[in-house]
Amino acid sequence: MFSIFPDAASIAECVSATLIEKIERKPEAVLGLATGGTMEPVYASFVARARERRLDVSRLTSFNLDEYVGLDGEHPKSYSAYMRHHLFRHLRFDRSRLHLPDGLAPDLEAHSREYSDRLRQCGDADLQLLGVGGNGHIGFNEPGTPFDSRCRVVELSERTRLDNSRFFEGNAMVPTLAITMGMVEIMQAREILLIATGEAKAPIVAEWYRNEVTQAIPFTILKRHPRARVLVDEAAASLLPDSVRYSPTALSA
Ligand code: GLP
Repeated sequence: MFSIFPDAASIAECVSATLIEKIERKPEAVLGLATGGTMEPVYASFVARARERRLDVSRLTSFNLDEYVGLDGEHPKSYSAYMRHHLFRHLRFDRSRLHLPDGLAPDLEAHSREYSDRLRQCGDADLQLLGVGGNGHIGFNEPGTPFDSRCRVVELSERTRLDNSRFFEGNAMVPTLAITMGMVEIMQAREILLIATGEAKAPIVAEWYRNEVTQAIPFTILKRHPRARVLVDEAAASLLPDSVRYSPTALSA
């Protein structure tokens, strides 16, 4: 369930190959999609491979993990704009099958419940992609989130707002609220791939490794999932014990 790769590019190749293989086997697959810097090389690699193989993506359904509250889909920093930019505009998706939470929904709580219900009706994700926050959050499920939480509106921690301020013009511009799939929707996926790359993720990856499942580190919940894999590059693995870093079973080509 844990693999160390030489770098972010090799993880991107592996994940995009997995995606292609899944979609070829099941063209109507349901994908759980993530945003953030970590996913950019993954989507770039996927788009290149999909084009090369003329992959039919028109029957795919997708559900994004989260969206900021208060940003409309056209806002350049919204996750909706991120998805269009990095993935959706490059291939022939059926736009009606691509789902993102609506950060401007008039009744955010009702919208969150509908989003969760829609995912259920579509049969849950066959494959869920995840990044991880520097504090261990998945989606926007911050440390301390109960494991029975569902899709809902959440307040972002100062740490998360600071981490994500690199995508905005300063910390003050980062929204304070978001809609996120909960731990329940994430864990309902049949398969999960979490990716952590770069030195900044090394401390939380080491914490994940050292700890049992705990709400204080949300992504430890993946240790309970029968088909979850955590893929890290050497930089993100740099604070793991040498016995793990140099173990042949932890290494992936
Ligand atoms: C955001 C997103 C998460 C993402 C995390 C890591 O807060 N809500 O879904 O995994 O950031 O982002 P990055 O890949 O940019 O480090």
